[in-house]
Amino acid sequence: MTDTTRFDKATTLAFIGAGYVGGSLAIALANAGYPVVAVASRTFASAQTVADRIAGCTAVESIADAANRAQFVFITTPDDAIGPTSESISWTQGQGVAHCSGAASLDIFDPATRKGASAGAFHPLQSFNSIDNGVQSVPGTTFGIEGDAAMQGYLSEMALAIGGNPILLKPEDKVLYHTSGVLMGNLLAVLGSVASRIWERFDHPTDEGAKALAPMMKAVATNLETSGVPGVIAGPYPRGDIGTIRKHLDALSADVPEYLPLYCELALAGLPFAVEKGSLDPERAREIEALVNRFKTRQASKQTA
Ligand SMILES: NC(=O)c1ccc[n+]([C@@H]2O[C@H](COP(=O)([O-])OP(=O)(O)OC[C@H]3O[C@@H](n4cnc5c(N)ncnc54)[C@H](OP(=O)(O)O)[C@@H]3O)[C@@H](O)[C@H]2O)c1
Repeated sequence: MTDTTRFDKATTLAFIGAGYVGGSLAIALANAGYPVVAVASRTFASAQTVADRIAGCTAVESIADAANRAQFVFITTPDDAIGPTSESISWTQGQGVAHCSGAASLDIFDPATRKGASAGAFHPLQSFNSIDNGVQSVPGTTFGIEGDAAMQGYLSEMALAIGGNPILLKPEDKVLYHTSGVLMGNLLAVLGSVASRIWERFDHPTDEGAKALAPMMKAVATNLETSGVPGVIAGPYPRGDIGTIRKHLDALSADVPEYLPLYCELALAGLPFAVEKGSLDPERAREIEALVNRFKTRQASKQTA
């Protein structure tokens, strides 16, 4: 049995996979005083870029060599490469390993734990699209943590040290937890893209739409944080403005029918929250539901015709 209680802020760290998450966390942890001593990646140039920003850190050509230099190794490759990368390392008794995936379980590290390493998961519930943006967004980020009690303690302290909010996850909760994160971090980005692209239909570039809509997304995030659910729900649906809703549905059907199903599904999903908030009368909600469903069915039959 490996004793993970000995991992602490003096434990040396290596990162394998110098991408958005690996680079951001390596820099954030080093800034918080953790000794990040080695970085390796698929290409040496990526490892070098990250190592150059961390005092005392070396970019290493070989993954195995990087892992040998540290007591605790973060594998921050794409999810599909975590298992093969871990299997390519000669783990030694007492080393630690963690991945940052929201979808992978800890079983992926079975070959490492059989050799005496202890395994954890440290998933940032955040959207990373560059190392610079990532370092900025680490404070305030929730980290989903898995592992034995000692690993949970070590990774929770780590999350707190970089300004994060640790939450402990059971293996069976991981997929729903990650689905919630993908809805917010990734599919919200799709919604932002769709809403911005609609601007082209009234002769304004998508980029102009994105710039105009982004402050709304920020305000919604603030409202979600401060007012919670269902307090965040606003607009024509909780107001019960059925005339306005009909105009939206007509406009979408005529000009951007490809986005009508998405609009309808979101509108229908939002009605129970509007009722729960107490701003939409249940009878009015049923009227709106029937109207939206009519447009949805009409569009579906056009698509199959
Ligand atoms: N991006 C997000 O929003 C986000 C959020 C939460 C969690 N995560 C998780 O964080 C992990 C990394 O994701 P990411 O977004 O940071 O990906 P990424 O930006 O694509 O970075 C992955 C890095 O891994 C390197 N790599 C690829 N294959 C490799 C291999 N076989 N061996 C060694 N290095 C390899 C790449 O190297 P080169 O640059 O050298 O080619 C790349 O720099 C994933 O588990 C992901 O699920 C991501």
